[in-house]
Amino acid sequence: MKERERTFLMVKPDGVQRGLVGNVVSRLENKGLKLVAMKMMQISPELASRHYGEHQGKPFYDGLIEFITSAPVVAMIWEGDNVVEMVRTMMGVTDPRKASPGTMRGDLAVFMGKNIVHGSDSTESAAREISLFFDQKEINTYQLPSESCLYD
Ligand code: RTP
Ligand code: MG
Repeated sequence: MKERERTFLMVKPDGVQRGLVGNVVSRLENKGLKLVAMKMMQISPELASRHYGEHQGKPFYDGLIEFITSAPVVAMIWEGDNVVEMVRTMMGVTDPRKASPGTMRGDLAVFMGKNIVHGSDSTESAAREISLFFDQKEINTYQLPSESCLYD
């Protein structure tokens, strides 16, 4: 089986509470991406500060940590060629008011602090975030019957 790129995607507390997990998952499944890990969990303050470490010191940091730890999230790993960039495009830009229609944030959210999803912004971030949230044994390997219709 060909090794494809992986990304980390998380439905944030607002997305879970608004019942948007299925909508987000459907978009990615319909696109042709492969789900290889998924779990619901409540993020500890320690994990939150490691995950969002790059934002430490910024004015929105404390609120971001408080929000992301406030209620359960659904953490996932998705696989596909160029999946990191593709998922970021499908999410839309950070501010939902500016996100294009057709994107998750453009279609489903209205406010910067409640933008329903997180996705890795580079392959390096993806590797770091995947290892922060998942043990190797939680990542699954299986064949997508549609793969021969999706790729060369
Ligand atoms: P994320 O990490 O959550 O996927 O979002 P992102 O890459 O699109 O945006 P990032 O710059 O990493 O910011 C992380 C989250 O912090 C909140 N934020 N608020 N008030 C502000 O200026 C501001 N900037 C960022 C957003 O909720 C964003 O998703
Ligand atoms: Mg980010």
